[in-house]
Amino acid sequence: MSYYKIENLEQYFKHYNKSVREPRKFWSKIASENFTWYQESEKIVEFDMAEAKIKWFVDAKVNIVKNCLDRHLSKRGEKTAIIFEPNNPTEEAQHISYNDLYTRVSKMANVLREQGVEKGDRVCIYLPMIPEIAISALACARIGAIHSVVFAGFSASAVAARINDSECKMVITSDGGFRGEKTIDLKGIIDEALNNCPCVEKVLVVKRTNSEITLKEGRDQWLQPLLDKASDNNIAEIMDAEDPLFILYTSGSTGKPKGMVHTTAGYMVYTAYSFKNVFNYEENDVFWCTADIGWITGHSYILYGPLLNGATTVMFEGVPTYPDYSRFWEIIEKHKVTQFYTAPTAIRSLAKENLSYVQKYPLKSLKVIGSVGEPINEEAWHWYNDHVGGKRCPLVDTWWQTETGGILISALAFITPTKPTYASLPLPGIQAVLMDEKRNEIEDNQVTGSLCIKFPWPGIARTIWGDHQRYKDTYFSTFPGKYFTGDGALRDEVGYYRITGRVDDVIIVSGHNLGTAPIEDAINEHPAVAESAVVGFPHDVKGNALYGFVILKESGEYRDRANLTKEINQHISDHIGPIAKLDKIQFVSGLPKTRSGKIMRRILRKIAEGDFSNFGDTTTLLNPEIVDEIKNGKL
Ligand code: WT7
Repeated sequence: MSYYKIENLEQYFKHYNKSVREPRKFWSKIASENFTWYQESEKIVEFDMAEAKIKWFVDAKVNIVKNCLDRHLSKRGEKTAIIFEPNNPTEEAQHISYNDLYTRVSKMANVLREQGVEKGDRVCIYLPMIPEIAISALACARIGAIHSVVFAGFSASAVAARINDSECKMVITSDGGFRGEKTIDLKGIIDEALNNCPCVEKVLVVKRTNSEITLKEGRDQWLQPLLDKASDNNIAEIMDAEDPLFILYTSGSTGKPKGMVHTTAGYMVYTAYSFKNVFNYEENDVFWCTADIGWITGHSYILYGPLLNGATTVMFEGVPTYPDYSRFWEIIEKHKVTQFYTAPTAIRSLAKENLSYVQKYPLKSLKVIGSVGEPINEEAWHWYNDHVGGKRCPLVDTWWQTETGGILISALAFITPTKPTYASLPLPGIQAVLMDEKRNEIEDNQVTGSLCIKFPWPGIARTIWGDHQRYKDTYFSTFPGKYFTGDGALRDEVGYYRITGRVDDVIIVSGHNLGTAPIEDAINEHPAVAESAVVGFPHDVKGNALYGFVILKESGEYRDRANLTKEINQHISDHIGPIAKLDKIQFVSGLPKTRSGKIMRRILRKIAEGDFSNFGDTTTLLNPEIVDEIKNGKL
């Protein structure tokens, strides 16, 4: 019996039980039967949850790109691997076959080697959603370099911090990027970032927008002439199962971004397996995930998961609103997309617009629709289900995180009955548990608790780059022996999970994970600001928006509050990126603090939500009078 593809609900339960009782046998069989290895693993998994040390497919040797490309060539060489849909609908789409992709990745891999990139080196990729972002990442993986893709919406100082944290020696960027009506000056941002990045030796520049840029001598080169000269014959590096594959930064509730490290074999097996089963991918399907490769969703379900399965994956350069609100639906129709995977924030923003935008398109090619990034509210769920899925496509609400590598809790299309707003059941291998306030495992159903996973799965991140202690503290110390997700969840009477949201200081805005601390740091850098606190409040389109409470140093000095608000937001844009801008700013004379100096955020959250009914116990506050002032909004 093969465990790779689950055929029905009964089999799901069988596989699930097998994966719990005999995890080694379960994953060993999947790994052995569905991938090509230089050497297979005997031990499969070794772990110590107390120390947060996890190894999968111990001692195996493998190259993930050989599994994504080389092994498909004999059967699927002419099959389209990537469909590239440009920002501008009048520019022709590109169909890149497995043969072409293999050649382009091999050439790129040779260029990287010629430019001095070696196994284990870090390469920062700061590119728009064009084929080169996929090709660069795969080329790195082919030669064993560790890619660190930084979303091309991040500011110069945010990129610089990420480049320095992992000491990247190379940056791959482009002359610019198209996004809707706008052209973004990516090279300019990199130039600014690199003023503060002594570790970067070389910059390769992809030509995309034909914008005027400057090439710094000795450091910057156009990529194309190097590719033209490169051989297309490249021997892939033999990697250890636990060699790092990539670093991807995610915000923490405190301090600097966390460089999550994913390693080779476990990530490979888990993304391939979860892709196949959650989306019920079949040969000749056309899969489209609308995320950016700068996020984990793009890594796992635009790039690795689909290519490992020999799938056709769509890459879209643009935005859902350009040239108008029907762009997504037009693309589904144009490329006969069978599985469509997007975020609730996109759904909500399109659902606000006239129904005719979506109704113009029959969308008959669709078989499965998916959601990711934040809880999908009932209204958005039904709109998506009715108007996009035509009430006939299963809607898979997939819960996971940058740290988990792949989807952990989700319905499996055509197998698990769906229930609006519920992510439903854990995938085989995922031992989800809810914990109560006393840190005990909750056995009952129809309860809420902190969501933890009590056994490692192959896709889990192995560490935080350069800071294993932080990895251990963040994920393995709150509930000893378990991985703590930071999310709260409700489990219903049949064991379905509904994710209720973060229980820490991370706020999800339009599906982007933002920590309050770095935003507050950026606000506090404004010379007029003494202190600040940021909380989330519900927003129709973004899910959550940001509300900043700001204490000024000299309240008399900055009389022009509107201007000050603008400047503060500009600071946030410069330090983090426009996605972290505040929707509301309230100037206050103090913040509610406990005796130990901790800001009582739940009070600020209630005020931000406009709910002044019950602030709960405020007796531990040092300055209870401030609550009335903030509530009345007078300063
Ligand atoms: C956080 C992780 C990997 C997905 C992209 C975001 C929230 C994610 C869902 C969902 C409810 C969800 C959680 C999680 N989240 N998917 N289907 N339902 N909440 O990855 O940036 O690492 O954020 O996103 O709060 O912890 P991320």
